[in-house]
Amino acid sequence: MSLSRAENPCFLLFLFVFQAVFLLILYRGGPSHVFRGVLDTPHVLDYSRTHDVYTNLSLFTRAPNEEAKPYCSAQSPILVGPLTITFRVLPSEKMIIRKNPFVQAGGSYRPPHCLARYRSAILVAYRNQKKYLHHLLYYIHPFLQRQQLSYSIYVIQQAGNGTFNRAKLLNVGVREALKDEDWDCLLLHDVDLVPENDYNLYVCDEYYPKHMASAMDKFQYALPSKSFFGGVSALTPEHYMKMNGFPNTYWGSGGENDDIATRIQLAGMKIVRTPPNLGRYKVMDYDKGMETEEPWRRPASHHNTRKTWKDDGMNSLEFKLLSRTKHPLYTNITVDIGYVPPFS
Ligand SMILES: *[C@@H]1O[C@H](CO)[C@@H](O)[C@H](O)[C@H]1NC(C)=O
Ligand SMILES: *[C@@H]1O[C@H](CO)[C@@H](O)[C@H](O)[C@H]1NC(C)=O
Ligand SMILES: *[C@@H]1O[C@H](CO)[C@@H](O)[C@H](O)[C@H]1NC(C)=O
Repeated sequence: MSLSRAENPCFLLFLFVFQAVFLLILYRGGPSHVFRGVLDTPHVLDYSRTHDVYTNLSLFTRAPNEEAKPYCSAQSPILVGPLTITFRVLPSEKMIIRKNPFVQAGGSYRPPHCLARYRSAILVAYRNQKKYLHHLLYYIHPFLQRQQLSYSIYVIQQAGNGTFNRAKLLNVGVREALKDEDWDCLLLHDVDLVPENDYNLYVCDEYYPKHMASAMDKFQYALPSKSFFGGVSALTPEHYMKMNGFPNTYWGSGGENDDIATRIQLAGMKIVRTPPNLGRYKVMDYDKGMETEEPWRRPASHHNTRKTWKDDGMNSLEFKLLSRTKHPLYTNITVDIGYVPPFS
């Protein structure tokens, strides 16, 4: 029956015309027309016109009655789209504090004018990159406030001179951050990346781990590899625990990313991504000599993620908390993460 229908030239012609008309409607006015629901005005993606990240932030003032604060609007009224970003002048700590009067000790913020719909923890693995950190704080605080989020910024600092271990530091950050609050979303954020568009919302996908930094300027705004999960990503605490967090046994930076992508799969999830026209990031590089790239490696016995992921992660995490202090702009968690394999 269906066979004869498929062979009928009139039916095929009808199908073809139907499809053509559908495509025509879809693309009338360009693809941005199609996504009108999300990106309702063309300026949202016009990167030739940028705005200051502090634009109109002063419109958010303290609600007259703290008890009767309304919920924040579903979409923030002050989003502007593309932001002006430059790393030429190093902002001082004092100036960042002055420009962000509603940020509390420990780098915590709640919108003064409304009840936030989302609570996001920003986790930054860190060592000796003070300049990068200042640039990041200057941009990320107002960026998050524009989105009407409740948030805290955690800087997880590795003590000592051993090889850097980004993934393990993030595991530590997750464990420590969840002691403060039931965060809706954990944002794992490299210290040297700044988001370029305030419509790139720092909230989690309900179902899957979300890779946010889908377009970095240093990779010509394309993904460096198909399974890339580095830079900035957003996971709910449930996603994070389901994949047993990140591996503790990659030393150096970069090598853990393939393992993490594999873990997501093995835990029955997949990676979703911010569309590249929104997930744009600028990478700081003004002081290249400061940070020497270390090669990454891990003990040979740990190569097989399929075998190791259930035993290497949040459930095997060991570290020594050296200090936890509230800086005016972030919570400083300094840890001794233990055994560092010697270079050979
Ligand atoms: C800032 O807010 C004012 C008042 O709501 C508005 O007219 C103006 O367009 C806003 N500026 C930008 C760049 O969005
Ligand atoms: C780390 O390295 C610096 C300079 O290379 C050295 O002065 C310092 O003692 C080292 N610290 C530790 C804990 O090894
Ligand atoms: C974090 O705290 C440690 C220990 O108090 C301190 O040595 C370090 O300079 C602090 N780091 C940052 C980035 O504030």
